[in-house]
Amino acid sequence: MKKLSTLIGAAAAVLAVFVAPAAAQPQIVVKFSHVVANDTPKGKGSLKFKELAEKYTNGKVKIEVYPNSSLFKDKEEIEALQLGSVQMLAPSTAKFAPLGAKEFEALDLPWLFKDDATYDQAMKGEVGKWLFKKLESKGIIGLAYWDNGFHMTSANRPLLNPTDFQGLKIRISGSKIADRYFRDLGSIPQIMAFSEVYQALQTGVVDGCENTPSNYLTQKFHEVQKHITISNHAHLQYAVIVNSKFWNGLPADVRGQLEKAMAEATEYTNSIAQKENEDALEEIKKSGKTTLHTLTDDQQKAWQTAMAPTYKWAKGRVGGEVLDLLAHELGIKMN
Ligand code: LMR
Repeated sequence: MKKLSTLIGAAAAVLAVFVAPAAAQPQIVVKFSHVVANDTPKGKGSLKFKELAEKYTNGKVKIEVYPNSSLFKDKEEIEALQLGSVQMLAPSTAKFAPLGAKEFEALDLPWLFKDDATYDQAMKGEVGKWLFKKLESKGIIGLAYWDNGFHMTSANRPLLNPTDFQGLKIRISGSKIADRYFRDLGSIPQIMAFSEVYQALQTGVVDGCENTPSNYLTQKFHEVQKHITISNHAHLQYAVIVNSKFWNGLPADVRGQLEKAMAEATEYTNSIAQKENEDALEEIKKSGKTTLHTLTDDQQKAWQTAMAPTYKWAKGRVGGEVLDLLAHELGIKMN
């Protein structure tokens, strides 16, 4: 009897194996790290990508978004991407030199893009593709360009004329082009991770910085800077990048679904960037915690004249090819 029940038990176990649904494929996890708040164009864009990617892959892929430097800070996240400990990032293109792709810094040239639409259009052209090609040999694939509008500039004194910058320590995010134009103004630029800026401004480690309204508002920079100039002197853009080994190793159908999700998330992000920044600027104004300034035409001309040497200098830094591509795309003359 005992033997029989053992046999029946064994048979049931075998049957269970055969009738059990095929073991579920392990879920693919994509860690997407970035340094800004959720309530910004990039923050919202990454969450939109998560929503669409999980929907289109029917849950086969899980996107874990880590905002606000909660997983890695600027430099660490780039290293982590190369090592494969995160799969996706969207750093500002000002931070690409450590990847061996300093050509991206050309996008930081002052007064290069007339408006967000011009930027968006330009990156869809040859120059956008050419820059992404630069990443291939580094084990990285560029998926999309995202927008975050134009930089303002701030300090604890009004910044209206180039001479107002004299001797100020200004935090920059990494680009040598930004380093150059702030030096042209007589200030002393200093590279610093985004997550450290608020405290550095508060304690006086640096005197000022540049950033977009959505970043000022969500990081509260406006609470520790008495004066902000809506200078719109340079554009802040991101490139969404993935580790190539990871991306190429995905099943083709899944990769296609993620590409579709990225294309739609990109449309979305770039369509909200301008309004997000306008709303953020309105909130900063309403907060009453800082004084906002706009430049007169003459003041803007004086900034442009002071920063003009950056264009000549840029050629030695980023090379003539990317500058020619940009000039062609934008229909402008450079140098
Ligand atoms: C910065 O470091 O100022 C920006 O790149 C942050 C960001 O990602 O918008």
